[in-house]
Amino acid sequence: MTIDKAYIRGSMAAILSVLQHSSCPHNIAFHFLISATANASLVRATISSSFPYLYFRLYPFDHSSVAPLISTSIRSALDCPLNYARIYLASLLPSCIHRVLYLDSDLILVDDIAELAAIQLGDNSVLAATEYCSANFVSYFTPTFWSNPCLSLTFANRKACYFNTGVMVMDLDRWREGDYTRKIEEWMEIQKRMRIYELGSLPPFLLVFAGNIVPVDHRWNQHGLGGDNFDGLCRDLHPGTVSVLHWSGKGKPWARLDAKTPCLLDALWASYDLLDTSFAFDS
Ligand SMILES: *[C@@H]1O[C@H](CO)[C@@H](O)[C@H](O)[C@H]1NC(C)=O
Repeated sequence: MTIDKAYIRGSMAAILSVLQHSSCPHNIAFHFLISATANASLVRATISSSFPYLYFRLYPFDHSSVAPLISTSIRSALDCPLNYARIYLASLLPSCIHRVLYLDSDLILVDDIAELAAIQLGDNSVLAATEYCSANFVSYFTPTFWSNPCLSLTFANRKACYFNTGVMVMDLDRWREGDYTRKIEEWMEIQKRMRIYELGSLPPFLLVFAGNIVPVDHRWNQHGLGGDNFDGLCRDLHPGTVSVLHWSGKGKPWARLDAKTPCLLDALWASYDLLDTSFAFDS
């Protein structure tokens, strides 16, 4: 997970939810990517004070390499460099880490994370995530992209579907072998020049991996609870069982609770809330 000032409250709630629903919490190792400018000892102290027995490591993420590659999206929160840190996990984490489960900070697990982490990636796949083939895939890219065959042919010969990058099982060895960080960066460089999509770190993931991921049961990422990218209105869960509630979209439960305009499901998030809003740890 990433941890930063804006989302620390979410991260702490997510950690608590993971531990509470785990049958073997002492088997879980957390790896946190933090901004290189954050006060690491304060972040460490904050986590340890709430979770004294948690096994975790912090990795400073230097924004300087990715910042020049980020183009403005439709929601400024998506342009935060730490939002792109998941692209760099394979190089930030030590090479003895072969596989990792990436989690966004705006979610709550209500089932045993071990079950999700055990998902098999088969012989070739690098990623497992929840995939939605009924979503309008075309809408994730601009007409500029679709009208340029040199670009859009990247999706020829694969059944590309939208997937959500907020919950991903990642094979870091395969990622390193395939140099996927570089492949994603190449699309970000193209985006800088010709605007081929409107969102943040998601579309380059789709460009590289859509159609080639292992689909995960939708219950592991009931996303969209934060509403859309503009209004952040209340949204209901999709039909079916729920193992992860994910407040993706503009509306974050801690912000709506503070504003005294919570949605129904925000009360569930509140039951994992450990921090008050007066908290700040940037140096
Ligand atoms: C970082 O946080 C620690 C508390 O854990 C504090 O003592 C220290 O002064 C902080 N450093 C800076 C540069 O703010």
